[in-house]
Amino acid sequence: MSRLGSVVVLVLVFAGGWCLCAADVGDFTPCLQFFYRSWPPKGLPGTPICQRYSNQYRFATLYSRPRRSPWFSAYLYTTPEGKRPSASWKFEPQLAYPGADGNMIPFPPGPPDQNVVDSQAVELDYINSTYTRGHLNPSLHHQSHEDRSATFTLTNVVPQKAGSNDGPWEALEQTVNKTLAAYCVGEAYVVTGIIPYQSEERWLKNHRVAVPEYIWSAYCCPHYNNSLPEELKDAFPTYAAIGRNDCNSTEEIVPVDKAAKKKFRGYDVRRMPLETLEMYLKDRFSTIISVFYERCSGSD
Ligand SMILES: *[C@@H]1O[C@H](CO)[C@@H](O)[C@H](O)[C@H]1NC(C)=O
Ligand SMILES: *[C@@H]1O[C@H](CO)[C@@H](O)[C@H](O)[C@H]1NC(C)=O
Ligand SMILES: *[C@@H]1O[C@H](CO)[C@@H](O)[C@H](O)[C@H]1NC(C)=O
Ligand SMILES: *[C@@H]1O[C@H](CO)[C@@H](O)[C@H](O)[C@H]1NC(C)=O
Repeated sequence: MSRLGSVVVLVLVFAGGWCLCAADVGDFTPCLQFFYRSWPPKGLPGTPICQRYSNQYRFATLYSRPRRSPWFSAYLYTTPEGKRPSASWKFEPQLAYPGADGNMIPFPPGPPDQNVVDSQAVELDYINSTYTRGHLNPSLHHQSHEDRSATFTLTNVVPQKAGSNDGPWEALEQTVNKTLAAYCVGEAYVVTGIIPYQSEERWLKNHRVAVPEYIWSAYCCPHYNNSLPEELKDAFPTYAAIGRNDCNSTEEIVPVDKAAKKKFRGYDVRRMPLETLEMYLKDRFSTIISVFYERCSGSD
């Protein structure tokens, strides 16, 4: 009886915790506008975060607490203007304290609070590691200064090799920028996520933050300009890509261009239809992953 009682109390406390923070952690309801047809990707378990900055929702992230890194971030593309901001890195107080304000805040100078360190990645995890901070939602896909600054939260970041981040992956982000800016007429919904290693997880130096083997991205632009040039005929309404994050990975998913510059060799990006991406995701996660409602068939 007392055991049952404590279970009930525990469940209530737990449920209460989730309810308190439901506005920003644990529920995508307040930020469904970042998903095509208000339909978040299906198949991945994790902690939903509605990414709030300056009291506005900016994008959405499915976060993995055990990995201290995101599964994916979802956002609306807006044509960028101006330069990348020199924004300060931020964290999510509500991951550490369920009742906290849901706005991300810059890391204060000095050692961070232990509850923050326990609940998420901190700057020290990345400093002197052999990985850069790879944005899933990149600052260069946004127009407003605030939307760009909001991407600088470590919950939107995965350990990414410089050969990918400064090479083929950056080129992909720029190509998507040009393509969407030129031919997407209405909203463009983007989801960018990761594929973990198959057998054994890899971690940043302190064994706190998991390293992905691949990074993937897909967009859905239901309304586009029909006079597409030949090379972009298969790029609408939806398109996807997978990028290598480990130059030693096998080549079944993404082949390596042996003639690439040494700095970028082994970090290739392969463009592919959404169906092909979802096939690789299903293989690796052993479950069906659906990125967009009805695969962004545009039937609306
Ligand atoms: C990073 O490495 C440099 C050079 O080895 C060292 O001086 C510095 O203290 C290290 N920083 C941290 C935070 O470990
Ligand atoms: C993104 O696209 C816009 C519109 O074509 C262009 O003005 C801007 O320079 C592009 N940004 C980057 C970083 O390529
Ligand atoms: C569609 O693209 C063509 C060719 O680039 C351009 O001339 C036309 O203005 C575009 N139409 C719209 C509605 O953006
Ligand atoms: C790839 O393998 C080489 C040789 O074993 C090793 O030196 C290097 O650190 C590995 N690179 C990565 C990214 O794991």
